[in-house]
Amino acid sequence: MSHLSIKQEVARRRTFAIISHPDAGKTTLTEKLLLFAGAIQIAGSVKARKASRHASSDWMEIEKQRGISVASSVMQMEYKDCVINLLDTPGHQDFSEDTYRVLTAVDAAIMVVDAANGIEPQTIRLLQVCRARNTPILTFINKLDREVREPLDLLGEIESHLGMDTIPFTWPIGMGKSFGGVYDLQLDRMRLFRPGQERRGNDDFIEGLDNPLIREKFGSAFEKAHEEISLIKEATPDFDHEAFLAGKQTPVFFGSAVNNFGVQEVLDALVKWAPKPGPRQALERIVQPDEPKFSGVVFKVQANMDPAHRDRVAFVRVSSGKFERGMRLKVSRTGKEIRPNNVVSFLSQRRDLLDEAYAGDVIGIPNHGVLHLGDVLTEGETLQFTGLPFFAPELFQGVEVKDPLRTKQLRTGLTQLGEEGAIQVFRPEAAGGALLLGAIGQLQFEVVAHRLKTEYGVEARLMPSRYTMARWVTSDNPKALRKFMDSNAAHIAYDVVDALAFLISSPAQLRVAQELNPEINFHAMREHA
Ligand code: G4P
Repeated sequence: MSHLSIKQEVARRRTFAIISHPDAGKTTLTEKLLLFAGAIQIAGSVKARKASRHASSDWMEIEKQRGISVASSVMQMEYKDCVINLLDTPGHQDFSEDTYRVLTAVDAAIMVVDAANGIEPQTIRLLQVCRARNTPILTFINKLDREVREPLDLLGEIESHLGMDTIPFTWPIGMGKSFGGVYDLQLDRMRLFRPGQERRGNDDFIEGLDNPLIREKFGSAFEKAHEEISLIKEATPDFDHEAFLAGKQTPVFFGSAVNNFGVQEVLDALVKWAPKPGPRQALERIVQPDEPKFSGVVFKVQANMDPAHRDRVAFVRVSSGKFERGMRLKVSRTGKEIRPNNVVSFLSQRRDLLDEAYAGDVIGIPNHGVLHLGDVLTEGETLQFTGLPFFAPELFQGVEVKDPLRTKQLRTGLTQLGEEGAIQVFRPEAAGGALLLGAIGQLQFEVVAHRLKTEYGVEARLMPSRYTMARWVTSDNPKALRKFMDSNAAHIAYDVVDALAFLISSPAQLRVAQELNPEINFHAMREHA
């Protein structure tokens, strides 16, 4: 049992995710952060998971990954009196929708940039999600032990993509073979780089920028860095905590994750500057994190390993109050009560925290389908949080069952996989139309076909579809909506929550529909409501 008040527990929570383009070093940084925070046991499992990720189109690997990732989906650790929750995001871009939803459950993000490549496409999409929510971002520029791009160029690029001021907290002296270390602009000292350095505690520092020792040791690399540092000191605004929290400034750190270098600074900045969990807007009212009563939101649903049991783990981010094992919870959507006992929690170090969770923490609740994405759990109050995004699919396939006697199983399977967020399922309004699957990444179809077979005993036939886009449609004018539906009956479908969607085969078709129907709103994103 914690002897701290709810308010104190909330104040020491830091919940974040790492975003990056594949291969920038997310896995490595994750592992090093865990190492530096002293959570060594889990560090190994991160690497193991990455190993299985490489062959991600292999069925067995997908299965394995689903199993492993329940355990490493959330990594909780204690560092400097803070409880840090690191929420993992799927590595494969075909599952990016999952990533977007995970980002709704964090209070901050660390962006890892490969210093040789700068900002890469996949980072941009993730950044947009963070920007839309004003999520504060810390930036780690990785791989300075290689010949990389000029640090000033990188800052310029980050600024233009993020629309945020970059505030360097450290600055590299040299790079590649001549990488000497980073100068800490806050503490006015240089941390010397040693390749393959063993964890923290045995670092060498040189105090002060004008210390002749630095010049002596690093010669021209130092002269260059010195100039850059003077430039930065003049040209960049001071770090402003409020501006960071509002997503207007990003502190920047340089380092080499694989060499354990520069990681300490990021971890320290995270506990010092990243926000504690804040209030959450529900439709009914604003929910404060330190309210006595528990509330939480399901932001991710994951099938368990054992296909025979077909149970799933709902990942719930605590929004308020205190979760205790065995407590009775109400699902706002259905009014049903649940009493989860075998809750999965993710703390690695301190057993005494296992039975409690506070705002910012994540608990995993095994269930047989009673919990859906976006569901809100409370101690009785009906609450509805908004903001869990579903994106309009960009790939479509029709689906039919090979054996008509298993049509019911197909429907059940697709409903459940749809609720899990593994795929989007559309039911055409026109009679006799085959169900349509919508995805962001091709791999999603393969996973669904595989899981239909192994978990539901259904051999599904996937068929090409002429659709390439979908838009959810709404209107303030019911008559206009009715008219639109009638004149486009062949292209109207309902998704799992019966939201109306317009199926489209070309961008031109969408433009025409928009011009002809000014009273209809076409949405590329649907928020869970
Ligand atoms: P990801 O999760 O973002 O996809 O990236 P990951 O951490 O797996 O890193 C991608 C590759 O970059 C790995 O090499 C990793 O060792 C390397 N790397 C990470 N940080 C640094 C760094 O600071 N400097 C250098 N030079 N390399 C770094 P790999 O060969 O793909 O894998 P592995 O065999 O090393 O595990």
